[in-house]
Amino acid sequence: MNAITQTAVAESPAASAIDPTELRRCLGSFVTGVTVITVLDEDGKPIGMTANSFNSVSLDPPLIVWSLRTNARAYPVYSTAKRFVVNILSEEQVDVSNRFAKSGPDRFDGVATTPGIGGVPMIDGCAAHLECRTEATYPGGDHLLFLGRVERIVGSARKPLAFGAGKYMVVHPYDSGADIASGSGHVATLNAVHLARPILEDLNRETDKTVGLGVWGNLGPTLIWWIEARKALDVRLRCGMVLPLLGSSTGKVFAAFSEPQLTARYLDAEIAAVQHLEGAPFKTREAVEEHLGLVREHCLASIYDAIIQDVNERGVNAVSAPVFDAAGAIVLALTMMGESATFTEHDPAVAKLRDAARRLSARLGYRK
Ligand SMILES: Cc1cc2nc3c(=O)[nH]c(=O)nc-3n(C[C@H](O)[C@H](O)[C@H](O)COP(=O)(O)O)c2cc1C
Repeated sequence: MNAITQTAVAESPAASAIDPTELRRCLGSFVTGVTVITVLDEDGKPIGMTANSFNSVSLDPPLIVWSLRTNARAYPVYSTAKRFVVNILSEEQVDVSNRFAKSGPDRFDGVATTPGIGGVPMIDGCAAHLECRTEATYPGGDHLLFLGRVERIVGSARKPLAFGAGKYMVVHPYDSGADIASGSGHVATLNAVHLARPILEDLNRETDKTVGLGVWGNLGPTLIWWIEARKALDVRLRCGMVLPLLGSSTGKVFAAFSEPQLTARYLDAEIAAVQHLEGAPFKTREAVEEHLGLVREHCLASIYDAIIQDVNERGVNAVSAPVFDAAGAIVLALTMMGESATFTEHDPAVAKLRDAARRLSARLGYRK
């Protein structure tokens, strides 16, 4: 055992106090790619195993590392193999990852491969391949570390699969390539839509609420996308649905934060349409302005028991938060909907909605 190895296995009192489940959970916040490491056994039979412990070590010389559980069934093959291939899986290969992580009669059944150096199989359809020679192995607790010298690389334009917190993920760039921070107007809206989708997906997963995305279209506030809660609301949402300014929470945030000349004619029309209705809240411009002032103050709009013709018969509650671009203009409304009996703006999920809108604005370069 060399000095490096001894350092690696030396156990400090603090280390022994670490709970393995907690450690696994914590390590899950380090998102990785997913690989299948392939080798040939001594009879020339292909062996493969899913591994996300792969990482880079050195560019010159070109070295990489990955680690294998010492009680893996194929441990004897890997620990003596002279060469291996790191198949970096693409986002279309979740089934390949699952196949090579589970015990099965033959993991290579039906998997297309191409022989690499020494005949070691390279799985077709990967994001990239690294063909390696085993440079050294080091014991590391219940794993064995493999240091590999890269002898050939094969790239592709495919997007890699990612893995974190026990889940497969697809990767999206932090920005869409455009200069988001300086974008404004229609470009900023497009960028915002692009960035908002994964954020809304997270919000929906974390809160199990129906969440939606609204923009200012050519006929006013427009719902362009939504994700249902597991228990779907009794609402017939439609992509491209134009919403009222005062009869929807999405509409209210646009009414509160858009330039007045953009919203005036819509507001006037909605005010005129309710003149004959007894008890309608927004019969005057003053009443509307007072309400929009509160929306501006709280940076949040809500609507209770909303019913939109041809969309829903049973009232729903909705809360919306504005998203601003670098120039401070509203570009999106993020909306959360729930049953009127249970969902209000005091729901803890609304704090997450507000936070998502704030983070999105910051990503678009809004600084306030
Ligand atoms: C995403 C993912 C990453 C994995 N990473 C590793 C790894 O780095 N090292 C390892 O030993 N096992 C890893 N595993 C588990 C092995 O793939 C799995 O234990 C092995 O294929 C089981 O084979 P066996 O039952 O024949 O021993 C991973 C599994 C998954 C799903």
